Amino acid sequence: MTIVAPSILSADFAALGRDIALVEQAGAQWLHLDIMDGHFVPNLTIGPAVVQSIRPRTGLFLDAHLMLENPENYLETFARAGADLLCVHLETLRTPAAVLRQIKALGKKAGLAVNPDKKFADVRPYLSELDLVLFMSVWPGFAGQKFIPAVLPEIQQCREYIKASQLPVDIEIDGGINRETAGQALNAGANVLAAGSAIYRSADPAAEVKYYLAARPAEVV
Ligand code: DX5
Ligand code: ZN
Repeated sequence: MTIVAPSILSADFAALGRDIALVEQAGAQWLHLDIMDGHFVPNLTIGPAVVQSIRPRTGLFLDAHLMLENPENYLETFARAGADLLCVHLETLRTPAAVLRQIKALGKKAGLAVNPDKKFADVRPYLSELDLVLFMSVWPGFAGQKFIPAVLPEIQQCREYIKASQLPVDIEIDGGINRETAGQALNAGANVLAAGSAIYRSADPAAEVKYYLAARPAEVV
């Protein structure tokens, strides 16, 4: 089953409760939270107080995408705020394995995100410590950018490796997802679709969620 993770970056922050309920009622399983610090990426978004306010309002699995320098300093804060998965960027980590263990010690799912210039080989050493790999298909920082197809072969290699080694790791793709690129990502082996503008900037966000939920790889591998 495809997991749909609407990104609230493209929601109406003045009506966040309504916009979350909308995607939850449409059947989305996850909510993608883009946490940006103005250092790792040139944008500022939401922090732990917003996550804490969201937590009691929804049953959705909270997928926190931490675009932060020194994310290890904020893991406990976001864990307490109610995130279910803490996804850190490889580019921000001096000791990746230790940070991933820190996430697991907090009782949370551990994700590792990589920018579009990274290869599958960059994440492979950490797969046994991970619940999820997030391949960025745009440069992190802003919603509404164009999909970078160079990530697709990396996703494909990652899926083949995970399958061959029988590792319980999800593959999320994030950035520039629309009906066309979602198909490409699923075919390559992604099973979690983070999508901001394709859902929240559409005339009928619930219909878009349902479309992506029903989307399947063209060939079942
Ligand atoms: C970008 C964020 C994405 C963003 C995606 O840095 O990580 O999650 O919300 O937005 P779209 O789907 O519009 O590319
Ligand atoms: Zn994101």
